[in-house]
Amino acid sequence: MQSAIFKTWWASLCYSSLVAGIAVPSNNAASETLDRRHSGCPAVWTDIAADLNQLFSGCSDPARQAIRTIFHDCFPGSNCDGSLILAGECTSRPENAQMIPVCDTLGDKAQQYNVSTADMIQAAAALGTKACGGPSIAFKIGRKDSSTPSPTGQLPAGNATAATQIAAFASKGFSANELIALVGAHSAGKNLAGTALDTTVNQLDSTKFYPETQDASAPASLDSDRFLSNSTATKTIWKGFGASASAWHAAFVPAMEKMSVMGNDVLTLNDCSSIIS
Ligand SMILES: *[C@@H]1O[C@H](CO)[C@@H](O)[C@H](O)[C@H]1NC(C)=O
Ligand SMILES: *[C@@H]1O[C@H](CO)[C@@H](O)[C@H](O)[C@H]1NC(C)=O
Ligand SMILES: *[C@@H]1O[C@H](CO)[C@@H](O)[C@H](O)[C@H]1NC(C)=O
Repeated sequence: MQSAIFKTWWASLCYSSLVAGIAVPSNNAASETLDRRHSGCPAVWTDIAADLNQLFSGCSDPARQAIRTIFHDCFPGSNCDGSLILAGECTSRPENAQMIPVCDTLGDKAQQYNVSTADMIQAAAALGTKACGGPSIAFKIGRKDSSTPSPTGQLPAGNATAATQIAAFASKGFSANELIALVGAHSAGKNLAGTALDTTVNQLDSTKFYPETQDASAPASLDSDRFLSNSTATKTIWKGFGASASAWHAAFVPAMEKMSVMGNDVLTLNDCSSIIS
């Protein structure tokens, strides 16, 4: 395991970029949300889904990146608020460097379609998950955008021990079971050198990633994942998700949905899950 090259726990993709940073102004998602509260999913999201599905087809690198963005937008500030893009966190923080291309794309598309950047990130993650063969995650709209940077140093590093990761996730209200389910997203991930984290990198599945990480037969593994797979606190959970795709789906989907609304009053959000298919 090449821990030195993994800057973050979520170091999942090698994707270099020549694109400079962008600063996207916030649009007024709050008033939009209130107006729409009971009015269903606006038609623009159907167009957005068609656009992103094209970009993500075949579990492309932008799809992998999109899955990763929700952790980096929602977790640090306990708030899915678009600050990953709107506060320039994507370009200014080393742990986000590999996501600069998709941040750039999603920021531009939020402006193009006149929707909130925070919602665009969530749509992309849910559609990226599907494009990589993963389960359907509910998608809601109406998050408030913010250009205030989130606190730094929140996501555990790629060499973090199991105890460190468990504590970091507990501090945000996630159990060890939820943490282990969420790292299954690495099933469609690559490390910073571009090496896959399991032998079926275009499939967001559990039955290769968890066993291959645990028995060290994956093409590459993050030390942080290896620690979770072999710690006494989590290895039984790890093994269970490896043994059963349905057990993993049953834990992964609600954990992703919980992450996707962090810092938002879910009762003010509108369901747009119909675009995730
Ligand atoms: C994790 O890696 C960083 C460098 O990337 C290093 O500074 C830190 O000491 C390492 N932590 C552990 C627990 O090995
Ligand atoms: C963009 O959406 C906002 C509501 O969020 C609306 O007030 C504004 O008129 C829209 N702009 C365009 C160009 O459609
Ligand atoms: C657990 O994983 C760590 C991180 O890769 C590794 O250094 C350690 O040797 C592993 N321990 C066991 C018992 O497999």
